[in-house]
Amino acid sequence: MESLTIHRTQPAPTCTVVIFGASGDLAKRKLIPALYNLVHCGQGAMPAKSAVLGFARRELSLDQFHASARDWTNRFSRLKVEEGCWQSFVDGLDYLAGLDQPDGFDKLKAKLESIEKARGILANRVYYLSIPPDAIRDSVARLKQAGLIADPKAKNFTRVVVEKPIGHDLESALAINRALLENLDESQIFRIDHYLGKETVQNLMVLRFANNIFERLWGARNVDHVQITVAEAEGLGTRAMYYDGAGALRDMVQNHILQTLSLLAMEPPVSLNASAIREAKLNVLQALRPIHADTARSHTVRARYSAGVENGKPVVGYMDEQNIPDNSDTETFVALKTYIDNWRWSGVPIYIRTGKRMPKRASSIFVQFKDVPQILFNREAAVPANLLTIRIQPDEGFSFDVMAKQPGLDITLRPVRMNLSYESTFGGGVSPDAYERLLLDVMDGDHTLFPSGHFVEKSWEFVQGILDSWTDASRVPLVEYPAGSWGPQAAEDLIRADGRAWHEP
Ligand code: BG6
Repeated sequence: MESLTIHRTQPAPTCTVVIFGASGDLAKRKLIPALYNLVHCGQGAMPAKSAVLGFARRELSLDQFHASARDWTNRFSRLKVEEGCWQSFVDGLDYLAGLDQPDGFDKLKAKLESIEKARGILANRVYYLSIPPDAIRDSVARLKQAGLIADPKAKNFTRVVVEKPIGHDLESALAINRALLENLDESQIFRIDHYLGKETVQNLMVLRFANNIFERLWGARNVDHVQITVAEAEGLGTRAMYYDGAGALRDMVQNHILQTLSLLAMEPPVSLNASAIREAKLNVLQALRPIHADTARSHTVRARYSAGVENGKPVVGYMDEQNIPDNSDTETFVALKTYIDNWRWSGVPIYIRTGKRMPKRASSIFVQFKDVPQILFNREAAVPANLLTIRIQPDEGFSFDVMAKQPGLDITLRPVRMNLSYESTFGGGVSPDAYERLLLDVMDGDHTLFPSGHFVEKSWEFVQGILDSWTDASRVPLVEYPAGSWGPQAAEDLIRADGRAWHEP
C-alpha cells in the first residue's frame, strides 16, 4: 500500500533562529545538533538561506563558537558530520555575546539586521529562550523594548520558543504566561515539550484515528486500566541546581507525562489542525480527577534513590550527589493513581510512575483490556487479558498481546505478542530527533505539537494539588528506593491495593 503524507509538503519560510543561552546544556546536546541535522545535505529540511545566531553572556570569537558547535555536533548529532554539510551550516552560524549587558538587545538588533541584509532575507525571527524560567519575563520584555517583536499581522514573523519548566508552581506559571502575553500574541508563542516531538507519541494519534479497531475499544467499556511508566537509568548528573528545586513531579509529570496522557485519552478532534487538537487535549485535563489531602496518601508515592547498583556499577544515593543540600527533600521518583472523569474513561484507573536511577531507560504506555468473561476457555484456567503496549523509547513501536492456540492435537492456549518495531519495519536511524521536528514546526508556524497556555495552567493546577498535599510530610512521607530498582515498595503497594501490578517497560 502507498504511504500517505499529510504534512509538510511546503518548505518552511526562511528565518533566523536566535538561541538564547547558546553555550548551555540544551544548546549543546540538542539545539545545535538538531539544526545541523536539518541542514544536513540528505535531508535539506532547513529553509534555504536561513541563519542561526547563538546569543549568550560569554565573550567568544566566532571561530571558538564554531569549534564548540562542531564538537557538540560530533558528540550528539543523529547524523554524522559531513564536510560539505558542515560548511553550509557554519556559513549561516553566527555568535553574539551580550545577553546580560544593558545594551545587549540593541546589539542583537544590529546583528540581526546585518545578517538579514547580508543574506537578503526577511526579518523572520525565531527566538529560542533556552534560559532559566525567571529570566524569561525579562528577556521577552527586553525584546519588545528593543523593537525586536514584529506585529503578529506583519509580513515577517516573530516566534518565541519557551522551554520547560514554565514556572515552578501554579502561581509562577500563571505569571510567566501573563508576562508572555503582555509582549506577544498567543500565535507567536511556542511552549516546547520535547515528548510531543517523539515519533511514538505522535504515532498515538495515527494508531487511534487511522485504524478502525483501536478507537472502538478505547474507553471504560473495554479497558481495565492504563499505565504510563517513564523510567530513566541516569541519576542526577550535574543538574543539582535545577533538579533539586524541581523533583520528579514537576520535572516529568507536569509536562511530558500529562501531555502524553492527554493525547492517549482525548476525544477524536474535529480536524487535524492545531486548535482542534489542543482543545481535545485540554478537555482531558479538565476531567482529570484532582488529588488533594484526603486522597494523597492512597494515590501518590514520593521517593528518592539511595545508593545502589546501576548497570553493574555501584552508584551513590541522591543525597551524596554533587551540590545537593543536606536538608533536601526532593523526590526523584513519583507514582500516582488518577482518573479521567468523563464518559469515555469513567472508573478506569490511570497509574503513572516515573523516576531516575531505575534499572533502564524505558518509557511505555500500557493499555490493559478487561478480562475475558469466565466462560469457555476462561472457565478452565485464567486467560490473561489483552495488553496493548506502546513503547515510546527505546525500541520504539507497539505490541499487542493476544491468546492463540499452540499448534498440536490438544487445545493449549498460549499468549503471543504481535509486535511492530520501528527499527525493523522502517529501518534504523530514520526517526528525526524530537527537537528537529519541533524546530521545523516553529519555523513553519505550526502549533499542533506545542502545549497551549491553558494546558500549561491546567496541568499545573493538577500538580499543585499534589504539591500542596505533600507539604505535610507525615501525609506522604519521602521514602527511599535503591538505585537500579523499580522504585520503592510503596509504589508496588499503590497498584497492588487494586489487585493489579506494574508492567515492566
Ligand atoms: C527533561 C527532564 O525534560 O526530560 C530530564 O528535565 C529528563 O530530567 C528528560 O531526563 C528525559 O527526556 P528523554 O527524551 O531522555 O526521555
